[in-house]
Amino acid sequence: MYPTPHIDQENKDLIAKTVLMPGDPLRAKYIADTFLTDVVQINTVRNMFGYTGYFNKKKVTVMGSGMGMPSIGIYSYELFRFYDVEKIIRIGSCGAYTDDLKLYDVILVEKAYSESSYAKTMGVTSRKYLSASKSLNQRITRAAEKLGTPLHVTTIHSSDVFYRLNPNEFKDIHKTYGADAVEMESFALFANAKALNKKAACLLTVSDSLVTHEATTSQERQEAFTKMMEVALHSL
Ligand code: HPA
Repeated sequence: MYPTPHIDQENKDLIAKTVLMPGDPLRAKYIADTFLTDVVQINTVRNMFGYTGYFNKKKVTVMGSGMGMPSIGIYSYELFRFYDVEKIIRIGSCGAYTDDLKLYDVILVEKAYSESSYAKTMGVTSRKYLSASKSLNQRITRAAEKLGTPLHVTTIHSSDVFYRLNPNEFKDIHKTYGADAVEMESFALFANAKALNKKAACLLTVSDSLVTHEATTSQERQEAFTKMMEVALHSL
């Protein structure tokens, strides 16, 4: 089925078997401009944009996922199912639920907890936790060790809601479910990987703290993201 409803690319060979997925399509462009050679642009229907190029001779596509589980759910499904993508590594930002995590720390997601009905609705599982691919996480861990980038390997919360009415609710989620940070996409990505027998992983940079209310500036965020991108790229 080409093009798919959301990825306007008729030649599926232009999409690599491994996709790096930031939330923001401008970040996908930044990765392509900064790290990749021989870049071609992949058009998507809603200006999400992707880029395929080479890093250390390895072919890779970078494409924005958009924000939230419905959005990453659509793009990652079409990539896995119709474009023969085998591995997707999300690279995103998160808010810290604990003082143990500092701004710019990098997290490798082991499990995503979610109250979302995404996996159940899809028919994958009614469980509230989904795991990242162990083999992808091993590769990422090795790459991080080589680069000297410390990783926090832990459980995170994939939330359906950014603006909660109760600002203290995160404390219960941290305590009850063991989630150390919050983002809004991994659970759906992992559900799609499970549904389609593919591999998914997620690296996150701490961009704000629900405990201390510190937040990063966009310039600082860009630099911190570079570390995480390098870990992802060196794991290819
Ligand atoms: N909440 C949800 N998603 C996020 C946050 C947050 O505080 N920070 C970065 N992604």
